Amino acid sequence: MNTTTSHSNPSGISLPIVAFIGGGNMSSALIGGLLGAGAVAARILVVEPFAEQRQRLQQRFGGVRLLDAPGEELRDAQAVVWAVKPQQFAQAAADCRPHLADALQVSIMAGVRCAAIARKTGAQRLVRTMPNTPALIGQGITGLYASAQASAADRAVADALLAPAGARVWVEREDLLDAVTAVSGSGPAYAFYLAEAMSRAGEELGLTAAQARELALATLAGAAALAQGSSEPLDTLRANVTSKGGTTAAALAVFDAADMQATIGRALHAAAQRAKELGDALDVD
Ligand SMILES: NC(=O)c1ccc[n+]([C@@H]2O[C@H](COP(=O)([O-])OP(=O)(O)OC[C@H]3O[C@@H](n4cnc5c(N)ncnc54)[C@H](OP(=O)(O)O)[C@@H]3O)[C@@H](O)[C@H]2O)c1
Repeated sequence: MNTTTSHSNPSGISLPIVAFIGGGNMSSALIGGLLGAGAVAARILVVEPFAEQRQRLQQRFGGVRLLDAPGEELRDAQAVVWAVKPQQFAQAAADCRPHLADALQVSIMAGVRCAAIARKTGAQRLVRTMPNTPALIGQGITGLYASAQASAADRAVADALLAPAGARVWVEREDLLDAVTAVSGSGPAYAFYLAEAMSRAGEELGLTAAQARELALATLAGAAALAQGSSEPLDTLRANVTSKGGTTAAALAVFDAADMQATIGRALHAAAQRAKELGDALDVD
């Protein structure tokens, strides 16, 4: 087994002083969750160059230390969370580097590899993560990878920092983050795709659009919750609700005739390949 999963949320957490580089959607979701779990606002710094966004952060999280540019205050940070767009990382890192102490670097940037983070920040203790969009409402799942130099304590800090985004799955090789991207990073779109097709068919069968949408979404959420609460393999859960000659069997026969499992497999391989290519493109200098 080369992964470990944690579902707990930190409560009454005691975090080191943390600096978020970039105060956008993901940082806001993480900071909101950390404060809700008892983190001390004054121990959170955010570097956010845009005044309007700083004002929003100020209103939402009074007490958090907001910086318009990296400065001496960053030296206090024992952990730094990189939460800018991947294309903004090189510039942000060049600006921050003179002010970084020997801190743990945690990245939530899609595709930016540890080698690039080490090159741009000069740090060796790194945790690279891949969250997904439901992180914005605390119901995501994040894949995490730690560099060899990161300690168990560093992993625990990164795990606590990402806990507000949802569950965490640690992987032991960095390239497995491309697989995480294929399964959960891009995964919400697959769920929307399936829900879309189920809703459309429901409407064709006479339901209203609202009824079909509610039935499809609640079914996906309920089925996922049922499976998460069960130790049965997924194919057993499926077989349990598929009586011979019944309605579910009729539907699944159509999926099988179209070789859906193989199609979905090819789709995820394509996503992983694209994640690798995007990582290669970001790893040039
Ligand atoms: N949102 C998700 O669900 C999700 C899921 C998985 C991974 N991620 C990753 O998470 C990262 C952040 O995503 P996000 O959705 O939070 O993006 P975002 O809302 O665009 O946040 C990034 C913030 O950083 C600011 N910024 C730009 N340059 C900066 C600099 N040099 N120093 C400090 N701050 C700077 C941006 O300002 P401007 O907007 O004005 O440029 C923006 O406010 C991305 O790398 C993304 O790949 C996001």
